[in-house]
Amino acid sequence: MSQSDAQTTTTLLILGASGDLTSRLLLPGLATLLTVETDRRVRVLGSDLPDMDEDAWRDRVREAFTKVDAGAEAERVLGDTAYIAADATDADGLQRALDAAGDGPLVIYCALPPQITAKACAALANVSLPEQTTLALEKPFGYDADSARELNRTLARSVPEERVFRIDHFLGLYTVLNLLGLRFTNRLFEPVWNRDSIESVEIIYDEMVTLEGRAGYFDHAGALRDMIQSHLLQVMAVVAMDPPASVGERDLRDAIGQVLRAARIVDPAEHSRRARYTAGSIGEREVPDYTAEEGVDPDLGTETLAEVQVDIANHRWAGVPFILRSGKAFGEIRKRVVIHFKPPAHIPDGLLGQDTPDSLTIDLRPDSFTLSLTTNGAGDAFTLGRTDLTGQLGGGQLEPYGEVLSSMLDANPRLAVRGDAAEECWRILEPVQRAWDADDVPLEEYPAGSQGPSSWPTAGASGARQS
Ligand code: BG6
Repeated sequence: MSQSDAQTTTTLLILGASGDLTSRLLLPGLATLLTVETDRRVRVLGSDLPDMDEDAWRDRVREAFTKVDAGAEAERVLGDTAYIAADATDADGLQRALDAAGDGPLVIYCALPPQITAKACAALANVSLPEQTTLALEKPFGYDADSARELNRTLARSVPEERVFRIDHFLGLYTVLNLLGLRFTNRLFEPVWNRDSIESVEIIYDEMVTLEGRAGYFDHAGALRDMIQSHLLQVMAVVAMDPPASVGERDLRDAIGQVLRAARIVDPAEHSRRARYTAGSIGEREVPDYTAEEGVDPDLGTETLAEVQVDIANHRWAGVPFILRSGKAFGEIRKRVVIHFKPPAHIPDGLLGQDTPDSLTIDLRPDSFTLSLTTNGAGDAFTLGRTDLTGQLGGGQLEPYGEVLSSMLDANPRLAVRGDAAEECWRILEPVQRAWDADDVPLEEYPAGSQGPSSWPTAGASGARQS
């Protein structure tokens, strides 16, 4: 939080306040933030369609805050929170909620499904907003490139781009932010961070979580949109971007935008895969077939594991495949970026043994990195071995979501997805979606608790990428 913002009260107006997102993610995230940034002053207003009396709303806020033991901060927020029953898609309803917010700094947070968000944004264009209004939108931003473009146009009628906060909590991950320090402040890495020295890059986010009752959303999104479109492309852009002049929002987001504009998926039938989990066990937990999970429509053919190969057509990266992959119901968590270096041009004759290329693994959770190097092995000095140099990356006080909320309340869009980037992410994946819709890529299967279909290469291992 910047010094000048200390003690200024920002009103957080939550549209969709009675929904799951508000109580599961937003309010607990805010509570954590307030316990760390004790100077921060936030007034929380909830608004949604259902009639809810003030006590019921206050109980909801209290419950979410209790989850993270927010103590004194909770009392402060509970003291002046209010609920306004209103239809967010209707200008009159919105105006009532805005009247309750007053004239100071305001964040309007759309915790609504995408179609309703689009309507609410259209309605917002017809009301007068306080000058210092930030609009925050949860993912997904639209449902394809056209709808994202349309939504951007609508938003531009209400607030300037710098005041639009498209949320991607991965941009608040400390390891992602640490990439900036690691890459740009060490003489060691930047000179080799290009096609001359790097063979391929993997960005993997394999999780042990399953559907977890989210069929209403996930069964329509699938892993491609839920994870690759919404998160991993942004991580890729940070890994691949040119050194920005500063870490200010303009320089940083320009650098991200440049990578995304150069990114494409050539021949999706060849360079994408999809699969979904079948029954299995993850540790002690028995997991049913994805299609047997409550609320799932098997006819939608939704994937729970998606992998794409992205090419970045620019001078730095031409010819280097970026493999992005994310799956649910895995037997082991693997959340990492792996940089696979090229083998050396020549190994002196007489040095024997393994010549696995070097790699740099950056673990996204928990935050750490491992530089795996070829060295002279133990015993015979002329036989090669491997040495792993491992380090912890400094963590932050806030969870990624809290980090993002903090910059949102500061109205600093540095950690928000810019409008052009949101459109590019859809554009990059459209050929894949088309190929999948046309069934050009088979929907494979893997048992829950496994590491994906057995015919797929092992992802995210150090050394050379296996195929
Ligand atoms: C969310 C996705 O945005 O990110 C989830 O909707 C996913 O499906 C989650 O599990 C992963 O992020 P985290 O922070 O929970 O590891």
